[in-house]
Amino acid sequence: MKMHYDIEGGNFSAAGRASSEIKKTLKQFNIAPALVRRIAIALYEAEVNVVAHAWKGTMNVDLTPEGINVVVEDEGPGIEDIGKAMEEGFSTASDRVRQMGFGAGMGLPNIRKNCDEMYLSSTPGVGTRLEIKVYFGASSVCESCHRNFPAE
Ligand SMILES: Nc1ncnc2c1ncn2[C@@H]1O[C@H](COP(=O)(O)OP(=O)(O)OP(=O)(O)O)[C@@H](O)[C@H]1O
Ligand SMILES: [Mg+2]
Repeated sequence: MKMHYDIEGGNFSAAGRASSEIKKTLKQFNIAPALVRRIAIALYEAEVNVVAHAWKGTMNVDLTPEGINVVVEDEGPGIEDIGKAMEEGFSTASDRVRQMGFGAGMGLPNIRKNCDEMYLSSTPGVGTRLEIKVYFGASSVCESCHRNFPAE
């Protein structure tokens, strides 16, 4: 199953829409709550990064019985030093972004902690690409439902 979302830079009132819709879909497929939580955290941070740091972007999701693969691509200023951006506490967030409650420099480290694979690449002045993978494994189907994924 594939899903596509557009993300608008600077629009904090819409930030989180894509990640919460994906979360809803995962729950409908009876993915274990702990996995849903990890994926939702990673996708929310990725979405907010586009809103906070880029002009516009897309989130493309590929959901299979094995896992979820998400590619977030944006047009924006890009990242000069990926190693630095991955450090806890590093942030270039503007005053406006900080006023919205973001800018702790914890988003990318949180994404890394919550997914199985993460690939981040960027061209300064052009944009950024983030790919996230989470594997469902044998225990992905909700224990209390005993239904198989996918339910189609
Ligand atoms: N999509 C992006 N485009 C441009 N720069 C980015 C992007 N994502 C992250 N960055 C850069 O990496 C830094 C660290 O990102 P990270 O998500 O860890 O922290 P943050 O967004 O600044 O704060 P927080 O996520 O805690 O609210 C950002 O401050 C920014 O400089
Ligand atoms: Mg962030």
